[in-house]
Amino acid sequence: MRSVLRSRSELPVAVFDSGLGGLTVVQEMRRQLPQEAIVYLGDSARVPYGTRSPATVVRYASACARFLLEQDPKLLVVACNTASAVALPVLNDTLSLPVLGVISAGARAALARTKIGRIGVVGTAGTINSGAYPREISAIDSTVQVFQMPAPLFVPLAEEGWVEGEVPLIAAQRYLAPLVEQGVDVILLGCTHYPLLRRSIEQALARLGSTAEIVDSATAMAARVGRALDSHGLVRPAAAEVSGALHCFVTDAPANFSQVASRFLGEPLDRVEVVDIS
Ligand code: DGL
Repeated sequence: MRSVLRSRSELPVAVFDSGLGGLTVVQEMRRQLPQEAIVYLGDSARVPYGTRSPATVVRYASACARFLLEQDPKLLVVACNTASAVALPVLNDTLSLPVLGVISAGARAALARTKIGRIGVVGTAGTINSGAYPREISAIDSTVQVFQMPAPLFVPLAEEGWVEGEVPLIAAQRYLAPLVEQGVDVILLGCTHYPLLRRSIEQALARLGSTAEIVDSATAMAARVGRALDSHGLVRPAAAEVSGALHCFVTDAPANFSQVASRFLGEPLDRVEVVDIS
């Protein structure tokens, strides 16, 4: 009965990713939009998405969206670059609520930072092969050059919580060297997992003698969610009951998820439920 009486602005924002990485967006949303309730789904049973075919990613993303719709959200955030790169049009066509992906926010954030018009993008093989970032960037500014590099090993390292030390540093140097050779002045982290390895990526750039600025889409994405809620008249009143609740679902291995997630979310995750969405 109570949910019938709730105004739409009091409903949660739904967010999904293939695993933990989307929590980098959630972390920013909680900082910028603290009154918003968030329902998060990490599809940990099927991570990684980045190595799979577009058709499979569309199927997985649709299953995530279907599950989250049962939570009655007011807006859906696809906090996964791979899913945003290949599944956003399908989700937008089939769902009747606003759906936001991370590609556009990342592209705009990188464009705002480059001074010489040379941007390096790292992402999963799926995101890189989709060409989503170069397309988005050149649609806004066709004079900017984009150089891409898939960095698949970053995903299991982030999921493991193995984000510092020699192993991520060596991987980062290997992945970034060809981009540094192109003289880029911005490295766009085109994968929600990669900000977890930010320190190693910074160290690798320093070792390679590059002063390129690292840009990720999480901050820009949270700001975009705020603007979208505002434009749809869906901003939650600050004093609303249960404001700021974060409810996490995963499709497998909740203990590992809670442990790694609470480390970088900066708060304990006391509610992580396992769900079967297959
Ligand atoms: N969340 C994915 C992305 O942002 C990375 C992890 C995966 O491959 O599933 O592209």
